[in-house]
Amino acid sequence: MNQSKQRCLIVAVDGPAGSGKSSVCSKACKRLGWTYVNTGFLYRAVAYICGVRQIPLNASEKLGVVIDDFMQSLIWDPETQAVWFQGENISTHLYTDQAGKDASLIATNRLVREKLLPLQRDLARRSPVGSIVDGRDIGTVVFPDADLKVFLTASIDERARRRIRQLKDGAHVTPEELDTIRTSIAERDKQDAARDVAPLIQAPDAILLDTSELDMNGTIDALVSLIRARNLV
Ligand code: C5P
Repeated sequence: MNQSKQRCLIVAVDGPAGSGKSSVCSKACKRLGWTYVNTGFLYRAVAYICGVRQIPLNASEKLGVVIDDFMQSLIWDPETQAVWFQGENISTHLYTDQAGKDASLIATNRLVREKLLPLQRDLARRSPVGSIVDGRDIGTVVFPDADLKVFLTASIDERARRRIRQLKDGAHVTPEELDTIRTSIAERDKQDAARDVAPLIQAPDAILLDTSELDMNGTIDALVSLIRARNLV
């Protein structure tokens, strides 16, 4: 353990949709006794609340009010990543493909990103030791001074297979279903990479971790090795 640092250590993990960031980062944190912060969940939660309140996802001013309400009444469980809003655990609504698409749409909005910025930093810094924070702009915008930056990716086919396995919980997958999810992932990546504000991009000082040929445990091992090699644990 690096004893010279007083502040919470930050590992930024960015990457495209379906690259396995959330599973890998949460399991790596369990191994290390660190905190995992899934920033995509925050974008998903805001989009979900807009849906419940029937607010169009492009209604900028109303989005601002939703985020203010969200930040005021948010309860976040760092152990499970559960998100509670106004007394209700809304987490189960946030895993769907549609929630990801809606999140990607509001994530193009500058105001939304500015308002969610301090929240992401605050959640990550609550850890007494270290946090792994995953998203699209963690190494470039949220924590440009992170102790380690990793860009986690895999081929589009592999990401589609993993995503559908997760959604269908091991059930048989038809070629058509695979095709639909592949298209959906590719469209979301395109939108995330093409936006003007905080686009999905590998930070110049991030280490590329391509997991196309790795299984879950192999990927966790690789991430933890990078953290150890940086002398953070
Ligand atoms: O990571 P996840 O797939 O849950 O993120 C959902 C969407 O939220 C992404 O497609 C992206 O548009 C947006 N997002 C973002 N910046 C982050 C995290 C997520 O723009 N830091």
